[in-house]
Amino acid sequence: MNNAPRPEELGPAHHAMQAFVRQYRRHPEVLFRAPGRVNCIGDHTDYQGGWSLPIALTLATHVALAWRADDQVRAGSDLGNAKFSSTLSELAQSARRAAGGTALEGLSGFIAAAVDLLAVDRGFDLWVTSDLPVGSGLSSSAALSLGLLSALSSPSGLPQPELIRLAQAMENRYLGVNSGILDQTAIAYARADHAVFIDAQAGTASPIPFDFAAAGYRLWIIDTRTPRSLAHSAYDRRVAETRQASQDLGLPNLRAAAADDWQRLADPVLCKRARHVITENQRVWQTVELAASGRWDRVASLLTNSHRSLRDDFEVSTPALDAVVDLVDGLNPLLSEGFAGARLTGAGFGGSVIALFPGSAETRLRSALGDVAAALPGPPAIIPIARPEDGLRQAK
Ligand code: GLA
Repeated sequence: MNNAPRPEELGPAHHAMQAFVRQYRRHPEVLFRAPGRVNCIGDHTDYQGGWSLPIALTLATHVALAWRADDQVRAGSDLGNAKFSSTLSELAQSARRAAGGTALEGLSGFIAAAVDLLAVDRGFDLWVTSDLPVGSGLSSSAALSLGLLSALSSPSGLPQPELIRLAQAMENRYLGVNSGILDQTAIAYARADHAVFIDAQAGTASPIPFDFAAAGYRLWIIDTRTPRSLAHSAYDRRVAETRQASQDLGLPNLRAAAADDWQRLADPVLCKRARHVITENQRVWQTVELAASGRWDRVASLLTNSHRSLRDDFEVSTPALDAVVDLVDGLNPLLSEGFAGARLTGAGFGGSVIALFPGSAETRLRSALGDVAAALPGPPAIIPIARPEDGLRQAK
């Protein structure tokens, strides 16, 4: 982890320190910055041992902490009204309820899980600030898990693979969310100006230069602000279906499948699910190669292909996500150079689209998004990505 904050990040870090001092009339001993992530390509591949290509965002969660001499825990967050006081033993008790099958919720749930996983034996004061939207598919919960685990394992700290493992365990075992390893790995390993090429089976993450801006391309997150209400149960169903597909093929996972192995499946639904995972893995590799040779037009077209596969084969899209992707694709006949592409990002079922397009299309896209707003619950939020950011790190 690189410890020196970059100048543009002194703003939110400073704000997080001030918020802590206002609450507790003391200074934090440590402050961690855990950014959100957006996955450029490679969705619903991680839990089948495959590849993904996320980047970290400027939007981030900050966790500030100071240890106490007793067993009291005071914690809170700028988000909503999430302020509470407790003791280590009360938190441990609620963590045990999660082991009995009751998922923990809210900031106190995240903290109880972290206290239990790390066997924290000292009280603490903790404050969370964040400008990362919740429910937009930008991994606000993985950012919070990693920020909390980093702060609560200070000052000794934990190696990154262990942090990732514990952050995933927090979601899976305590919070009732059956996530893979993509979000936590992306946030832990992201590096400025690079995408993270994740191999979920090997547990490795390699930085890939990702300088779309130098080629005159823009990358936007377009948050449809549509709720991801059925996301958990549908996600679990996809995990089960892909597991069934790999079992029927006699493979350890779909990463091990050959390009046309999906044709060997008798069940038409499993056929489609497997085809998505197999072709999506191929698209991640193609994206890595095309990015290295600066072919951003072809990367953009792979994004749209990925969306179609997520929509038709994996069936995790929604009318709102499709409307935004179609709108981006509809710009292409109007462009004199380059190509505009877009896809849903993350688990799907709502949330955000990521769009890659030549800078010359920016004004047109902005006004077209204004027009599509009528088909959505409200105007979509545009989050331009100037460049990929650094991942998790200590800001104090
Ligand atoms: C969610 C999960 C990840 C991954 C994506 C889909 O974000 O947390 O592990 O499976 O969905 O790619």
